[in-house]
Amino acid sequence: MTTTPVSPDQISPAPLSPSLVATLPGHYYTDPAIFRQEQEHIFESMWFCAVRAADLVKPGAFRTVQIGRENVLVTRSRTGELRAFLNVCRHRGARLCTEESGEVRRNLQCPYHAWTYDLDGKLIAAPNLVRMPDVDRTEYGLVKVALREWLGYAWLCLADEPPSFEETVMGATIERLGDVASIERYRTESLALGKRVTYDVKANWKLIVENFMECYHCATIHPELTEVLPEFADGYAAQYFVGHGAEFGEDVRGFTVDGTEGFGRLDGIADDQDRRYYAITVRPQVFINLVPDHVIMHRMYPMAEDRTVVECDWLYAPEIVESGADVSKSVELFHRVNVQDFDACERTQPAMDSRAYRSGGVLVPSEHHISEFHHWLTQRLDAGNGTNGTQNAENTKTTENPVLM
Ligand code: FES
Ligand SMILES: [Fe+2]
Repeated sequence: MTTTPVSPDQISPAPLSPSLVATLPGHYYTDPAIFRQEQEHIFESMWFCAVRAADLVKPGAFRTVQIGRENVLVTRSRTGELRAFLNVCRHRGARLCTEESGEVRRNLQCPYHAWTYDLDGKLIAAPNLVRMPDVDRTEYGLVKVALREWLGYAWLCLADEPPSFEETVMGATIERLGDVASIERYRTESLALGKRVTYDVKANWKLIVENFMECYHCATIHPELTEVLPEFADGYAAQYFVGHGAEFGEDVRGFTVDGTEGFGRLDGIADDQDRRYYAITVRPQVFINLVPDHVIMHRMYPMAEDRTVVECDWLYAPEIVESGADVSKSVELFHRVNVQDFDACERTQPAMDSRAYRSGGVLVPSEHHISEFHHWLTQRLDAGNGTNGTQNAENTKTTENPVLM
């Protein structure tokens, strides 16, 4: 049998079957120009969950994080507040702190010409500064970044006029759980870190978001998770009904890798939150997972169009962590889920450049709600670029009822 070679032009999208919805075209996951637009109009414009507050206990403790195109320095002031600054010396621009984390004793001193700032960002000393009395020490202080603390994390926003935190960040949890009290009952800010794993994922951040939004893959790649949450096995994202938490299987005693006993229920959660798993996506870069005895927080740091660092924290009641209890069976369940998910994303990333994916792939009914994410993304980029939202949105045909079938 002979086959006719197929030219790239011949791989054009066939009309979609009614069950299917188009994804974004492949270049959205590989094009550095699109990633740059996302940095500007998404990561530098929205609230970004950057640092766990309890990681910076002492004044002078700092952490540096990449948010969009900026490197940001988060530190604790002498009076105990968290502060965030662009990590850029106001003299000639050297990066102040090059380490990812550390602690300064009193002040932040630039390693280049020794301009020195206090922990509130004010310029307090520089060689020969006394001979320049006209230099305003506040004006030449570090550039501040907006910061809100919620759920025990510092959320930063680089926008000149940050969007409402209540409407965006809290709004995402209300959209998912029905109210903000449902998440605050877990008292995440009072929990202690049992384990942190950092994953360096060779995939575009959107593939990770899309993967988290659907459970069509659960039966194939998450045997342990579907054992604990049997309703995930049918592939429908039942977890996305407002207020619905996936119920533990009948024989499951805890949210652990083998379904054995976990820990006591967290103080404050409601009876109807017991034996249930809730997943929340806070755009653009946070996943929150709630189970009765712990909380799992994922923060993504998109580094390039094909690379995303994910920091995942497992948080428990402080007495559990202080007692040295073995949390490994509890951690192992979602660690496996993470590895399984990130492997799938890494397997997908190279194909985004293939001519087979030039016009994108398709979403099946249990994934249709992902097109709402695509629509949101293209609208943000179009708005940021001053276009009217039709040019890109054409690529993300939405269904009338995109959320659940
Ligand atoms: S660049 Fe920082 S002191 Fe000169
Ligand atoms: Fe998954």
